[in-house]
Amino acid sequence: MPQHHYETFEKNGHIRTHVTVVQGEAISLCRCWRSDNFPLCDGSHKKVDDGKGPAVIHVDCEKHFLDQDEG
Ligand code: FES
Repeated sequence: MPQHHYETFEKNGHIRTHVTVVQGEAISLCRCWRSDNFPLCDGSHKKVDDGKGPAVIHVDCEKHFLDQDEG
């Protein structure tokens, strides 16, 4: 059962997504922009053959906050 959650919001004119995961969990972040569950991969990348797959994040410390669109 996934324990991660994410929140998308606007900050300083940019859309940001914060993903919270727990120790021992792995999540897959979409890199193809086709996921209906963006920023998480839903497997939609398999429908096209462009060589892009997810960024798989394995968490081995207590908590991480990933900030998409930094900078
Ligand atoms: S759906 Fe985009 S990488 Fe999987």
